[in-house]
Amino acid sequence: MIKAVKGFKDILPEENVLRNKILTVAKKVFETNGVQEITLPILEKTELFIRSIGETTDIVQKEMYTFEDKSGELLSLRPEGTASTVRAFIENNLYAKAGPHKYYYWGPMFRRERPQKGRLRQFYQIGMEFFGIDNPLSDAHIIYILYKFLKELKLENVTIEINSVGCPECRPDYEKALKNYFKKYMEKLCNDCQNRLDRNPLRILDCKKKQCSHLKIDAPKILDFLCDSCKIHYEKTKEYLDFFNVKFRENNLMVRGLDYYTKTVFEAVSEGLGAQNAVGAGGRYNNLVKEIGGKDIPGIGFALGIERLIILLGNKICSRKTDFFLIMLGESSLKKGLEIYTLLTNSGFKGEFDYQLKGLKNQLKKADKVGARFAIILGEDEIKENTATIKDMLNSKQFSVNIENIEGVLHETN
Ligand code: HAM
Repeated sequence: MIKAVKGFKDILPEENVLRNKILTVAKKVFETNGVQEITLPILEKTELFIRSIGETTDIVQKEMYTFEDKSGELLSLRPEGTASTVRAFIENNLYAKAGPHKYYYWGPMFRRERPQKGRLRQFYQIGMEFFGIDNPLSDAHIIYILYKFLKELKLENVTIEINSVGCPECRPDYEKALKNYFKKYMEKLCNDCQNRLDRNPLRILDCKKKQCSHLKIDAPKILDFLCDSCKIHYEKTKEYLDFFNVKFRENNLMVRGLDYYTKTVFEAVSEGLGAQNAVGAGGRYNNLVKEIGGKDIPGIGFALGIERLIILLGNKICSRKTDFFLIMLGESSLKKGLEIYTLLTNSGFKGEFDYQLKGLKNQLKKADKVGARFAIILGEDEIKENTATIKDMLNSKQFSVNIENIEGVLHETN
């Protein structure tokens, strides 16, 4: 038997119900906040990711699915969506067109990481990117959109954490201070972090290994190194987040696994996820458009992992997949029954019925199995009286209604 590739999984119908609900909520929240959908290719030139995500990052060093095309060109499956959005923004000359330049996307991303809970090699992200504004008000707005989306999904145990990672003007001093601090503990650092010390010391702050994570508690804090412009930006972002009523926590040791960030970074974290505790993350990237070959245009964005959202949601939404199951008891109820069935499904209710027209007990079992909210029972007596018996499958209560009123009952409980 040929199995699926490690870290790549099938998404079965039940999970798709949840995914579609997540996407529906996302699209509503994003579009009401003026963000438009963009769809991007899954395959890009490898160079794009090297230049954006950064040569020394784990993603570029060891996690990309890269291959040589027949033309000899190096191509990679996208490990994230920001680089592609920036490329599309430049290539399609979107900045010359009327704004707002706010885009959201969703789809599969690929990283060859070690699979574990909440970590796959093919996973799905929903993300968004804003271009052209360096005002902290847009930082607060985008974090508000993330917060609002999580609220709409009723995810209470998620906390927004924010930090600043400074800019090319002030970050080198911070890196120097970090290097000096960690050098003292060189022996105690894990092998990866010993390598990071010279090349990318900020990444040590992100190491999840115990031996490194307790060393970082006393490490120098970025806030003491920010230049005036980054400091004001950070303070203003916090102030505007309060205006948006967004609850957040400062985490001044937070860094990100991608190199393009400047100033504000943020994560939505939850203990329910275990070691991979971020369900969503993002930040500002004021130099990325220019670095990829565009004009000097600032940007900011975030992305959420759909599989991690699903872990957190559990069966919070989606316990019922079908609105009604029509139980027709014998041929004599078929004509009226199918009339009711088409009427209800035309009105948007999701319904099922039994082709074999078996007995009541058998059909009730089926109604339960498909997760129907209501069983609508039509037998000889009901047909004679132009009624239907409705069984509420949530509390087993049963009542009779006039056939004309069935739709009203379903609407009331929807
Ligand atoms: P990221 O932190 O690498 O950022 O990924 C964002 C989210 O994608 C994570 O919080 C997580 O939920 C999900 N994710 C990442 N890797 C995996 C994986 N292997 N398996 C399952 N889920 C995963 C970015 O990708 C940036 N592009 C975000 C961004 C947008 N920054 C600015 N704009």
